Amino acid sequence: MRNLLVTGGAGFIGSNFVQWVAEHEPGLHVTVLDKLTYAGRRENLAGAPDGLLTFVEGDICDGVLLDELVARADAIVHFAAETHNDNSISDPAPFVRANVEGTFHVLEAARAHDVRLHHISTDEVFGDLALDDPVRFTEESPYRPSSPYSSTKAASDLLVRAWVRTYGVRATISNCTNNYGPRQHVEKLIPRTITALLCNERPKLYGDGRNVRDWIHVDDHSSAVWEILTRGRIGETYLIGAGCEKSNREVMQAILSAMGCPGDGFDRVSDRPGHDLRSAVDASKLRCELGWEPMHTDFSAGLAETIAWYRDHESWWRPDREAAERRYAAQGS
Ligand code: NAD
Ligand code: TYD
Repeated sequence: MRNLLVTGGAGFIGSNFVQWVAEHEPGLHVTVLDKLTYAGRRENLAGAPDGLLTFVEGDICDGVLLDELVARADAIVHFAAETHNDNSISDPAPFVRANVEGTFHVLEAARAHDVRLHHISTDEVFGDLALDDPVRFTEESPYRPSSPYSSTKAASDLLVRAWVRTYGVRATISNCTNNYGPRQHVEKLIPRTITALLCNERPKLYGDGRNVRDWIHVDDHSSAVWEILTRGRIGETYLIGAGCEKSNREVMQAILSAMGCPGDGFDRVSDRPGHDLRSAVDASKLRCELGWEPMHTDFSAGLAETIAWYRDHESWWRPDREAAERRYAAQGS
């Protein structure tokens, strides 16, 4: 493999993946296709060495452009998507377009040029678990998405499966848990909480805060994607998770404590409609079949590094924060 096409590479996980590839696979040339929506930034790719990267500003729904780029690629990693649940609740239309129609175009280009595709998805396609459920999601769990976001991701996964079966597209899928780390958009829980505290404002906990998410450091997501892309079995789905379940209240209190704030220094706000109660994955297939292991197993240490990153990069997040908080105010949260 010499030329990798990464869609959505200017966003949070995509840019961390490109950086991971630059560090671990320096011989590879990466082309990033990104529309630079409110969530994408050209500067997120500033660390990539000269000669490694070609950046193309464009839309995955532009079939002609995709066809041109895929013709020159040996493989595609497809991250591009609209990704925030709260935005999907207030306006689902961009989610259907980017996540469903966009993935359709990626698949058609992969089919036309017989190019290997890895599709990035989320554990949210499975809906939620009870707090005391003894089992976690596996590759066999039924799809029960709760939100417009997760339903459009579920739809995109199903398109990939059908294109594998009907047209023989050489694709794999991964469904990952909640990521954290540098360059995550400030609308998401961890950066929203950190940046609220850096602005001397009170962070917001939805509902009673008992909802549980399974957290993974973004670099561990990147290493898992690389293993699946290079060694995964075509047509297979792999769940990615580091086994780090925390309630939102625990995450909020961990951030408050790491930033020297009192444990009750947050406000409870009304709950998200359709809010998934608990998500958690069993990543045994990835661990046993491909030998993948997460490196960032200390959540407090990962959180401390993430807090330090936001502390040091105020000019990166401040304009986005103002815009995100205006969107939240309009949504009433
Ligand atoms: P993000 O919102 O930070 O970035 C998305 C990127 O996609 C942005 O750069 C945006 O400009 C680009 N994009 C959006 N629509 C596009 C279009 N039509 N054409 C081209 N580019 C477009 O998202 P993220 O958190 O980095 O998520 C990346 C992928 O990982 C998504 O597919 C998401 O569903 C999946 N995922 C995310 C998480 C998480 O915790 N953030 C967990 C599991 C899976
Ligand atoms: P989020 O980061 O939006 O990710 P997802 O919805 O994909 O899990 O939210 C993570 C959890 O945190 C989710 O249960 C909603 C909750 N949450 C809050 O309690 N307060 C907030 O300000 C935000 C943004 C999210």
